[in-house]
Amino acid sequence: MATAILTLFLGFLTLTSTVLSFNDEARPQPSDEDLGTVIGPYTSFDDELGTVIGPHANVDDEDMDMGTIVGPHANLDDELGTIIGPEFEIHRHDFPEDFIFGTSVSAYQVEGAKKGSGRGLTTWDEFTHMFPDKVEKGDDGDIGVDFYTRYKDDIKLMKELKTNGFRFSIAWTRIFPYGTIKKGVNMEGVKFYNDLIDELLANGIQPSVTLFHWESPLALEMEYGGFLSERIVEDFREFAKFCFEKFGDRVKNWATFNEPTVYSVAGYSKGKKAPGRCSPWEAPKCPTGDSSMEPYTVAHNQILAHLAAAEEFRKCKKCQEGGGKIGIVLVSHWFEPKDPNSSKDVEAARRSLEFQLGWFLSPLTYGHYPTRMLKDLNIRMPEFTEEESEKLKESLDFVGLNYYGAFFSTPLAHVNSSQLSYGADLSVNWTAEQNHSPHLKSTSMGIVIYPAGLMKLLKHIKDEYMDPEIYIMENGMDEIDDGSKNLTEATNDYGRKEFIKSHILIMGKSIRMDNVRLKGYFVWSLMDNFEWEKGYRIRFGLYYVDFNDNMKRYMRSSGKWLSEFLDSKESLHKCYFEGHREKGYAPKLFDTEYLDPENLRLRYASDFI
Ligand SMILES: *[C@@H]1O[C@H](CO)[C@@H](O)[C@H](O)[C@H]1NC(C)=O
Ligand SMILES: *[C@@H]1O[C@H](CO)[C@@H](O)[C@H](O)[C@H]1NC(C)=O
Ligand SMILES: *[C@@H]1O[C@H](CO)[C@@H](O)[C@H](O)[C@H]1NC(C)=O
Ligand SMILES: *[C@@H]1O[C@H](CO)[C@@H](O)[C@H](O)[C@H]1NC(C)=O
Repeated sequence: MATAILTLFLGFLTLTSTVLSFNDEARPQPSDEDLGTVIGPYTSFDDELGTVIGPHANVDDEDMDMGTIVGPHANLDDELGTIIGPEFEIHRHDFPEDFIFGTSVSAYQVEGAKKGSGRGLTTWDEFTHMFPDKVEKGDDGDIGVDFYTRYKDDIKLMKELKTNGFRFSIAWTRIFPYGTIKKGVNMEGVKFYNDLIDELLANGIQPSVTLFHWESPLALEMEYGGFLSERIVEDFREFAKFCFEKFGDRVKNWATFNEPTVYSVAGYSKGKKAPGRCSPWEAPKCPTGDSSMEPYTVAHNQILAHLAAAEEFRKCKKCQEGGGKIGIVLVSHWFEPKDPNSSKDVEAARRSLEFQLGWFLSPLTYGHYPTRMLKDLNIRMPEFTEEESEKLKESLDFVGLNYYGAFFSTPLAHVNSSQLSYGADLSVNWTAEQNHSPHLKSTSMGIVIYPAGLMKLLKHIKDEYMDPEIYIMENGMDEIDDGSKNLTEATNDYGRKEFIKSHILIMGKSIRMDNVRLKGYFVWSLMDNFEWEKGYRIRFGLYYVDFNDNMKRYMRSSGKWLSEFLDSKESLHKCYFEGHREKGYAPKLFDTEYLDPENLRLRYASDFI
């Protein structure tokens, strides 16, 4: 494998001068009909090189650096064209045999069964019921999409998709209703996860478990403030240890925390997510909080709790058997400068990456926070002891990455230095607006759809964080549907289908071109569900959920495409992109999928700044 890639790479370098004419001679001039022409990895080695350059790339441009996929000042549209030739082709078999293709959910967003199942209350129960005006339409996760009772049918959906992995989270309070073992274990909850895991395995689907997906036990919040206190570390250790003991014989892929950046910032700096804390000047108002300190404290305690869980995992013998691994799931977008000619914007993009991803990945790799953050935040940044620092470096077997797209970065115009917060510390605006690559589109939450950003991000993680194993734990596309679409409209999700295709394509390239150690890909999400404060009308599902008719599930076009891709044994599937030729890649979206500019709550970046 490694030799093949090296050969490919060397071949690529030496062929760049001759491949251009090769391209022209070997390929028929494409017409609309032959967009699907097979120029895949299986045709021949040389052809594959052609896909890197893409038959539609501007090959006369002398400035084009063939060896560099991303030029800092390139127009992003053209750049996309050069990365994804419209006729590039990828096949299930291009991915390593043990590669996992799965779907992803989290407990609170899908399970329901708040009552009558022995589950204890969490910060999300409190948040949705105490501040319904902070949640779109006053929605809550009391019922979710009833995964708790329908999980067997939902596993059939996973089978239908031909996926071989499923990522879910264990609700802490479904195991320990009051957060600790001495206050009681809910055996019904233990049984639920046991049954779920067994049913998955019986269907050939590998479980991938996240221990904390934002649901902090309310009892611990009331006792000592949850993650504001270091006491959470030992309680989390106990919970993790219990889960390893109960489920570690069968679950081989564990993550401690999901998106600790969002948990810290949206929950404690912006107050937009549970527990809804922020300083008095943030809008909308929070009853209490301190945006200048709390996000950093909460982040620090999550890192220490991760470390405690990793220690327990290393002690669990049966967990290690069969290649058990422990990691963390971090969200990162890719950041481009809003004006690529502005050094301030270039710096703003780098800074964003460090504040979003490096905040956690740096301590977990190098044992300390990123230099920019330490320098700027100074005494507000908590410190690790030397011992913690050393242990942290050994605490990750893989990095889980949630990638949804890109933002354009530029320094914030005004920062009031008396109103410190994560956003003020970052001091960067993340926007979808720019004027150099007008064809890049954004989703209903205002995230720029940018598959090439995933390739850049994976390369960045490989180069800057010691080449870890990576699982993409979430990737998917949101759209708005308040339930008024009819079934045909709701299941015909052309945009999402193209979104997923293009990201799978880019992963193939990352593995082949950059030798990134990518091990799995999970689509967010299996089905529509409770999208936190954005409620049920922001939808991500490969399956549409009809909330007007007993939450029936219907496979969308995106799901159908994925199942065909994953099922392909011999036949090749075409990946090409409408509108690519003149405009660069951008999936065509329905108008209704665009952001309502007035609704700040739905705007993704407003969880951070
Ligand atoms: C960046 O500067 C170059 C040279 O002045 C110019 O040609 C190019 O259009 C500029 N790009 C943008 C996006 O403004
Ligand atoms: C800056 O923040 C302080 C403290 O909250 C506030 O009193 C002041 O009005 C703010 N200044 C501006 C220009 O908003
Ligand atoms: C970020 O930039 C957009 C325009 O691109 C602007 O509408 C918005 O107000 C800015 N946000 C902040 C917090 O400055
Ligand atoms: C669904 O809505 C579309 C667009 O409004 C319409 O063309 C179509 O006929 C509708 N289908 C059904 C089955 O009602």
